[in-house]
Amino acid sequence: MTQDKSISELSTAEAKAELENLAKLLTQANADYHTKDAPQISDAEYDRLKQRNLELEAAFPSLVRADSPSSKVGAPVADGFGKITHAVPMLSLGNAFEDDEVVQFADRIRSFLGMSNAEAVAFTAEPKIDGLSLSLRYENGKLTQAATRGDGATGENVLANALTIADIPQELTGAPDILEVRGEVYMSHADFEALNTRQAAAEDRLFANPRNAAAGSLRQLDASITKSRPLRFFAYAWGELSAPLSETQSGAIERLAELGFVTNPLTKRCETATELLAHYHLIEEQRATLGYDIDGVVYKVDRLDLQTRLGFRSTTPRWAIAHKFPAELAWTRLEAIDIQVGRTGALSPVARLHPVTVGGVVVSNATLHNEDYIRGLDSKGETIRDGKDIRVGDWVQVYRAGDVIPKIADVDLSKRPDDAQPFEFPQLCPECQSDAIREEGDAVRRCTGGIICPAQAIEKLKHFVGRKAFDIEGLGAKQIELFYDDPDLPIRQPADIFTLESRDGANLTKLKNRKGWGDQSATNLFAAIQDKRSIAFGRVLFSLGIRHVGEAASNMLANHYGNWAEFEAALGHAAAFKGSAWDDLLAIDGVGEVMARSLVGAFNHPRERASIDALISQLQVADAAKPKTEGSPVAGKTVVFTGTLEKMTRAEAKARAEALGAKVSGSVSAKTDILIAGPGAGSKAKKATDLGVKMIDEDAWLALIEGL
Ligand code: IVH
Repeated sequence: MTQDKSISELSTAEAKAELENLAKLLTQANADYHTKDAPQISDAEYDRLKQRNLELEAAFPSLVRADSPSSKVGAPVADGFGKITHAVPMLSLGNAFEDDEVVQFADRIRSFLGMSNAEAVAFTAEPKIDGLSLSLRYENGKLTQAATRGDGATGENVLANALTIADIPQELTGAPDILEVRGEVYMSHADFEALNTRQAAAEDRLFANPRNAAAGSLRQLDASITKSRPLRFFAYAWGELSAPLSETQSGAIERLAELGFVTNPLTKRCETATELLAHYHLIEEQRATLGYDIDGVVYKVDRLDLQTRLGFRSTTPRWAIAHKFPAELAWTRLEAIDIQVGRTGALSPVARLHPVTVGGVVVSNATLHNEDYIRGLDSKGETIRDGKDIRVGDWVQVYRAGDVIPKIADVDLSKRPDDAQPFEFPQLCPECQSDAIREEGDAVRRCTGGIICPAQAIEKLKHFVGRKAFDIEGLGAKQIELFYDDPDLPIRQPADIFTLESRDGANLTKLKNRKGWGDQSATNLFAAIQDKRSIAFGRVLFSLGIRHVGEAASNMLANHYGNWAEFEAALGHAAAFKGSAWDDLLAIDGVGEVMARSLVGAFNHPRERASIDALISQLQVADAAKPKTEGSPVAGKTVVFTGTLEKMTRAEAKARAEALGAKVSGSVSAKTDILIAGPGAGSKAKKATDLGVKMIDEDAWLALIEGL
């Protein structure tokens, strides 16, 4: 982090330039965080920039910009959701970092209200949940609207998604006719980890932290995805009301709890600033064991009549403040940089650190992402850490955001040893010495060795025996590592698992005599392997661990092609990435160009293909169940859905159509038989009209398939 020049030393021109720069940085950071759910700087760095901006504006009031970041909350709404104008704006909170700022906050309030220091103002103190805020509107007891904060004035309508969250009541009894309840949507640590495990297994993107996971899950255009993600909700505030909830903040929270909302159990009414601080430290001590992320404690004036009198500054209330926790940071020495090679050949640099405690957890490894990150560049080629590179021997600052893998936040150049050399990212795979190359636009360098690379081969084998793949009892990741280099019974590729028993020599005896094995376990393993010889098409495909081809895609491809021989032939015909077999592949809904290229590439790569064929010759691959299509008017037809479906989700509509023998495609072409267009249909409807493709609405579609 940069050392700012003291404000009193700045010339007007310097202050102006810095304010301009801060406006740019903060606008970008807001967009990364709120619109893209992909923050590029830490929360602590964001707070620091925001604080610096406020201080500069206070010292140079004439320089306050029309687009000042202090007068903005969040970022504009993303496209794709309906917009909702908040009846009462959703604001943000001012921050305090030090204990004495909390005392000043209480003093300021008394002075604003014309009270003496002897007069007490009571507050509530409660955890600041690190999620995203949501405003729920109930009319006559029914949930009618759910809006994200957006830019504070206008948010996104995520009602369909809110309806899938168990903590959010859909009906209330005894509530005011109009009641807007506000609170935080978040994901627990346990649910976050389970989600990322599922994402990894499906080769889907991993979420950086529970907040991003919650945001990504809530802002899904397909509510069935939100439903599959375990989100929770704490109520802590309100917007428009037709009748007051209480005379106090604490009373209002109790009332919300009575109405059926989950409120935070660590909410406490405090009489003095000293009590607030004591509660802050108590919450801070419990932080690591709460099971969800919090990033501070919020203090609010308890009496609502006083809140009204205190009112607001441009975007923050005078009656509340967020007392932030210090970021979880620590300095330590970087002892080495190791390169790990993954299943798809990605070379991932890992920092080996002198062990250090960060926020209560001992950290000795941290991710270094990729070679640009080590050089001090982000994914867009812009500098991070002020462009400082990372060298072995450096003193580095480690931070943990939530429960994710620790990262390196900064480097202390003043402590850099004389012999520290810039890190040379390997151009050859450290495991197999094949060229490691970076494709255009890819931040990751990859080993080109494919299955001749032992690291890739082992990772691929581990994936192959994984729970969602072949799932062979007694043959897990640990066993794979041992078998890979076994002199007597090596397993180098998936097919070797199935020849283990029949290879020349007394294999049962060999296995029995291995360390840790006996008669029973050896017999059991052979039986378990035998058991998996006959297996579903989709599972086999997923097990191959082809980049970009996850579990859902594998099943989809299996359903589309029906049997292995047909599939394999089609991929052969598509080898040149053109022609009708290629077009057919691309027309499958959910198959994009990246996935298609990876799949066709793997099946037409001589060595990989030999390995796949060797495996298939050992198996009976069951055909994908052909849908029952008797009497179906849409069997064999290619259909496309576009626009908003109102009676069912897109996923459900697609599953239904496929069950009736239709092919569901993602794009309209001359081969399309029917386009089902809901409200908001755009370019696809136009294309269908141009091509003369039959176009019907959702009701007509439902009538067509009725009773089937
Ligand atoms: S009160 C007028 N209470 O923090 C102020 N906010 O920086 C209304 N937040 O947008 C907010 N926990 O997303 C409040 N216990 C809590 C909170 C909380 C988290 C978030 C909320 C808000 C942001 C403000």
